[in-house]
Amino acid sequence: MTLLDSDVRGRTQPSSSRYGVDLHTTRAGTPGGAFMRQFWIAVHDGDQLPAGRAKPIRIMGENYAIFRGQSGEAQVIDYRCPHRGAQMHLGWVEGDEIRCVYHGWKFEKGGQCTEQPAEQEGFHRKVRIGTYPTREHMGLVFAYFGEGEPPAFPPFPEPKAEGVIEIRRAVNVPCNYLQCFENSMDEVHVAFTHAPGGSHAKIAVDLPIITADETDWGMMRYGKRKTGDIRHTIHYAPNMVRVLVPPLAGMDGVGGWPEIILIFTPVDDENCIWFATSKVFVTGDQVKEYNDKRVEFARKFAEAPPIGQVVQDIWSGKLVYDDVRHPALARVQDIAVQAGQGRIADRDNEYLGRSDAGIIVWRKILARELLAFAEGRPTKKWKTPPDDVVPVMGA
Ligand code: FES
Ligand SMILES: [Fe+2]
Repeated sequence: MTLLDSDVRGRTQPSSSRYGVDLHTTRAGTPGGAFMRQFWIAVHDGDQLPAGRAKPIRIMGENYAIFRGQSGEAQVIDYRCPHRGAQMHLGWVEGDEIRCVYHGWKFEKGGQCTEQPAEQEGFHRKVRIGTYPTREHMGLVFAYFGEGEPPAFPPFPEPKAEGVIEIRRAVNVPCNYLQCFENSMDEVHVAFTHAPGGSHAKIAVDLPIITADETDWGMMRYGKRKTGDIRHTIHYAPNMVRVLVPPLAGMDGVGGWPEIILIFTPVDDENCIWFATSKVFVTGDQVKEYNDKRVEFARKFAEAPPIGQVVQDIWSGKLVYDDVRHPALARVQDIAVQAGQGRIADRDNEYLGRSDAGIIVWRKILARELLAFAEGRPTKKWKTPPDDVVPVMGA
C-alpha cells in the first residue's frame, strides 16, 4: 500500500501542552521511546518471511534488517553492516548466518562476525553487528529493542479453546500508532463508522456505556449494552487489543466470531502497521469449509482495489463514504476515519466525552509513565497477562 496523505484539514502539528509530554512519539531518546522499548514489538507477519530471505523493516523511527535462517529462526539485526555501512537486507542468508553483499563479511545470529574473506585472519573476532531478541507467537514475529533482558515471552497468551490460528495480512496505515490504539478503545465508533455496511454493520446498533480499569498488564474495558450484556475487551500494553469480532463480511458467517489480537506497531511517528493474528474456533470438518471460504475471500480481496487507494478516493471526495463496497470494508472504514484525523491526531483541540472513557484512562496511564521516564522517577513494572483473563462477547 502506498502512503497516503490525510492532512486535508491541516491538522499536522502535534502538541504536548495538555499532557505535559508528547504521548504519541516513540522515537529513540524520548520518554515515549523508552516506554515502548520495554515491550516485545510485533515486526513482521511470520509467513511473509520465508527461510533464506532477508528484508528491511522500519520500527519506531529506526531501520533494521530481518532474516530467516535455513533452520527456520527469524532474527532482527542492524540495518547497516559494521564494515562500511552497506544494507544488510541485500545480504545472502547462508545456513543461519547472513553475508553482506558488499565485501562478504558474514555474521551469525548472535551478531558475531564469523568470516571476512579479504581480511587478515583473526580480525573478524573484533567485529559484531547489533542484534535484537526475536521470537514468534501466533504467526507473528516480535522483537525486543530495549536494554537488558526482554520481558517474558509470549507477550500475551494464546486463546485456549480449540481452533485454527490465522494471520490477517498486515497493513500500512499512514498515521501515528496511538490514534489507532485509541480507536480500539472506542467501541462507540462502531455505531457510526461501520454503519454503512461490512462485517461490523450488525453490531452497529447499540451505544454501549464504556468503562475501563488499569491492570498489571494493561487495561480492561467494558461496554455495557441496553440489554445489560457487557462486552469485555482486553488492551495489552503498550499497543495490542484482544477482542471477539464478527466474521469478515465476505465470509458469510463461516467460522463464527473469532478472537482477534490487533497490534499497532509504530513505523515512525507518522506511520504504523496493523498486525493481526486470530484464533478461529473451527474444528474437524468445519476447518475445510472455513479454509475454502478463506481462499474465496482472498481471491475477492486480490481483485478489489487496494485499501490505500479506496481510502484516498474517500478523502478526496471521489467516493462517497456510504457507497463504498470492499471485501475488507471495516478496515477501509477504520483507516479512512483514523488516518483521516491527520498524521498525528491533535490531542489539544478535542472534546473528550463520556464515550471516550477508555481513551481517557489509557492517556492517564501513558502520561504518568512518560512523565516518570522524563523525570527519571520509577516507572511501572508491567506483568505478563494471565491466560484466564479473556474477552467476552456480551452480544
Ligand atoms: S560493507 Fe559489509 S562487508 Fe563491507
Ligand atoms: Fe472500527
